[in-house]
Amino acid sequence: MLRFDGKVALVTGAGRGLGRAHALLLAARGAKVLVNDLGTGSAGGGADKSPAEAVVAEIRAAGGSAEVNSDSVVDGGRIVQAALDHFGRLDIVVNNAGFLRDVAFHKMSQEDWDRLYEVHLLGAFRIIHAAWPRFREQGYGRVVNTSSAAGIYGNFGQVNYGTFKLALHGMTQPLAVEGQAKNIHVNTIAPAADSRLTRTVMTAEQLAPMRAELVSPLVAWLCHEDCSENGGLFEVGGGYVTKLRWERSGGATLDLQGDNALETLAGSWDRITDFQVSEHPRSFGEAMTVFAKIMGSA
Ligand SMILES: NC(=O)c1ccc[n+]([C@@H]2O[C@H](COP(=O)([O-])OP(=O)(O)OC[C@H]3O[C@@H](n4cnc5c(N)ncnc54)[C@H](O)[C@@H]3O)[C@@H](O)[C@H]2O)c1
Repeated sequence: MLRFDGKVALVTGAGRGLGRAHALLLAARGAKVLVNDLGTGSAGGGADKSPAEAVVAEIRAAGGSAEVNSDSVVDGGRIVQAALDHFGRLDIVVNNAGFLRDVAFHKMSQEDWDRLYEVHLLGAFRIIHAAWPRFREQGYGRVVNTSSAAGIYGNFGQVNYGTFKLALHGMTQPLAVEGQAKNIHVNTIAPAADSRLTRTVMTAEQLAPMRAELVSPLVAWLCHEDCSENGGLFEVGGGYVTKLRWERSGGATLDLQGDNALETLAGSWDRITDFQVSEHPRSFGEAMTVFAKIMGSA
């Protein structure tokens, strides 16, 4: 059985939806959990301690160990300190808190942009930044960042959301490189689940097979000490779990020095964008070998 005895987990936005499900599973498997939730409305306004308190009560009633924290993730340092004050250590961070302010780009306000930046990217950064020195000292840490298909693929009305959701994976990848030697693993998930966020665009009936609990096993596995996965991006929902990777077309190395460079490039467009032959660079180093060859240093 995969357990988390002796481990302390911080789950943000854990008062409802996906975060609640992650907190319940980690606690059921022995982790002590700091249940963080500001208790906002679905567009980020307001504050309410009761969802986080209810989750803590649920965990305790089941025999688990949990504490409430109601700070905004923008105050990430305080939240990490609360975990240390309550439990004396921190091993796992699940950055999950979030909300939407969907609006077509030409109607988006600076406020719509700023609030989404704060909750999704700045909040996750502040929490990881505060936890990182601990993780390094103890030679152990697990982080799961919550992205979205809206960021990976692009979706109408979600320029603010999509930007910061994909930026979270932008943060995951170099953190994974920096953390590897200290046994700190950082991964990203893009979930799909029934929650008040998705209920705004789909019915309860449509969403019935997409229970939030079906996302949590992946989160818990990525947080487990036996899991060596680091820097990965996963889509998950309704029992479907899959890993994404970068694909680079075979490409073309062209003579772009003469007056006809633009025409040479345009004439090669089919070849440049043809994925019949492709590769999947797994690291910065692997990706750079093609340029090293051009520079004659490979
Ligand atoms: N549900 C989906 O299908 C789906 C898809 C893609 C991504 N996501 C992402 O998953 C995460 C969880 O979403 P959900 O669907 O469970 O939504 P939800 O609204 O049910 O839960 C989000 C929780 O985050 C809390 N929160 C909001 N701002 C906060 C802040 N500043 N500090 C602390 N807590 C805050 C809210 O109070 C809420 O309880 C979000 O980041 C969301 O963008 C969800």
